[in-house]
Amino acid sequence: MLRHPPFFVGAGNVNRVSMLPVPDTAIIVVAAGSGTRLDAGAPKALVGIDTHSILRHALDGVFAAAPAQVIVVAPAGFEGDAESELQAAAGGRADLGRVVTGGDTRQKSVAAGLAALWGDVTRVLVHDAARALTPPAVIDAVVAAVADEVGIIPTLPVVDTLKRVDGDLIAGPVDRSELAAAQTPQGFPRALLEAAYRSALASGVEYTDDAALYAAAGHAVRRIPGDARGFKITTPDDLERARHLLGVIERPALETTAVDAASPTGPRVGLGTDVHAFGGDGALWLAGL
Ligand code: CTP
Ligand code: MG
Repeated sequence: MLRHPPFFVGAGNVNRVSMLPVPDTAIIVVAAGSGTRLDAGAPKALVGIDTHSILRHALDGVFAAAPAQVIVVAPAGFEGDAESELQAAAGGRADLGRVVTGGDTRQKSVAAGLAALWGDVTRVLVHDAARALTPPAVIDAVVAAVADEVGIIPTLPVVDTLKRVDGDLIAGPVDRSELAAAQTPQGFPRALLEAAYRSALASGVEYTDDAALYAAAGHAVRRIPGDARGFKITTPDDLERARHLLGVIERPALETTAVDAASPTGPRVGLGTDVHAFGGDGALWLAGL
């Protein structure tokens, strides 16, 4: 049974009490993973970056974007924790949010989120809670770009030189210009995404992400620019990177920047003169030589 916010009751598409328009977009925030690779002793989404959890940071970004229905997919047994994070992040938009229980694969967790969509939603974004520092502007850009039948994903260029390998041997180069690194949120027209998920369920295939599942159903997916801050917190190193970005811990010494050069505590280099009069008898000594 879906819970509809009270402000949906009203004339036309506008609430009489709050005058908020009914959102036609939903954002499913999948947070039901266990975080095996992070290995932090708790479900990854509930691990703290600073005083706030990964999920809380992700939801802060989601609620800073344009209003949408927000569905948090929580690990089984942690629905209450997810609800607290949702309430804290939502502020005045708490009516737009709800928590559902996830499945044992990401695909099943997204399917659980899809089952909770409100009737008015025509556009669905699926977002990894683990991409906790994704800027709200990326979310808004994905929403704006979703078109009739076209799915949208944010991507970053691949900057590393890539090699095809065969065991220890380098088998050949990879043309980087053909590749892009995929991020979330990924956005789709609702009806086509739901149909694509039904097909995936029927076939039993697990896809690497929603864009792959959507493309497998025969639909086009287009990319827009992602953002480096949308990286996925997967390993302890990623968590440390997030902590650096939030200024929770000092950067390692090697990561000095121009800002450090202006710091009064850092080493400084400059040019100057030092003048002395000649004195006494004998040879001239310069700088002790
Ligand atoms: N996710 C989910 N349900 C699952 C598995 C993953 O909702 N059964 C979510 C995660 O919570 C995460 C996102 O999908 O926000 C991306 O998954 P990933 O980074 O792989 O997270 P985990 O599966 O938790 O991590 P790991 O693979 O290391 O166990
Ligand atoms: Mg995983």
